[in-house]
Amino acid sequence: MKHPRVHLLPQNNQLKALMSIIRSKDTARGDFIFYSDRVIRLLVEEGLNHLPVVPKDVITPMNEKYEGVAFQGRICGVSIMRAGESMEQGLRDVCTGVRIGKVLIQRDEATAQPKLYYSKLPADISDRWVLLLDPMLATGGSASKCIEVLHESGVKEDRILFINLICSPEGVKRMLDLFPKLQFVTAEIDEGMDDRKFIVPGLGDFGDRYFGTS
Ligand code: PRP
Ligand code: URA
Repeated sequence: MKHPRVHLLPQNNQLKALMSIIRSKDTARGDFIFYSDRVIRLLVEEGLNHLPVVPKDVITPMNEKYEGVAFQGRICGVSIMRAGESMEQGLRDVCTGVRIGKVLIQRDEATAQPKLYYSKLPADISDRWVLLLDPMLATGGSASKCIEVLHESGVKEDRILFINLICSPEGVKRMLDLFPKLQFVTAEIDEGMDDRKFIVPGLGDFGDRYFGTS
């Protein structure tokens, strides 16, 4: 799938090898965490490429001008709990002191419908660019509910960058249709979903595998 608002990580052998490890049902939890964290780091770095910058010249120790850039505005992270919390450290590793809001949304295991339980966001979130963190996008129900919460807090859609590991084509389409200014960064787009609305081939339940609750 090619779409100007969907930024796929470079589909190279390194990424394929990392994804093969985290997708395998034989991968033990320690390796699942380690290699997921590596992909998350790549995703966060790619996400930063899509934030606006302004020109900023600096003078080097050689007393020469370097025509550089600086990020235009401040950012924050928002994680969709629980699985999205796995992505917070990857963001902190590259953005020291970054503020991180949390929204607890859980899918009902029988119906796959999302339910909102809690949210706590930075007070000035409407002035920031938001990196929305959730590793799995299946039906798109959880992510779209979270974006509604962000809208209610005054966040403009064109300031949201959704950072995600694996998505279903149905989920991406739903998000692109519902939110015409939202941008995505993702590692891979899968074939579809099964009748329980799990992504296939997918990697199973990300939160259970990362936090060891399966
Ligand atoms: C998972 C995942 C997403 C959601 C995706 O969370 O982290 O938030 O499901 O599915 P959707 O696109 O169909 O809404 P889940 O509710 O299973 O909870 P968890 O984070 O505790 O694993
Ligand atoms: N949540 C997951 O963790 N995996 C899926 O495939 C769908 C929702």
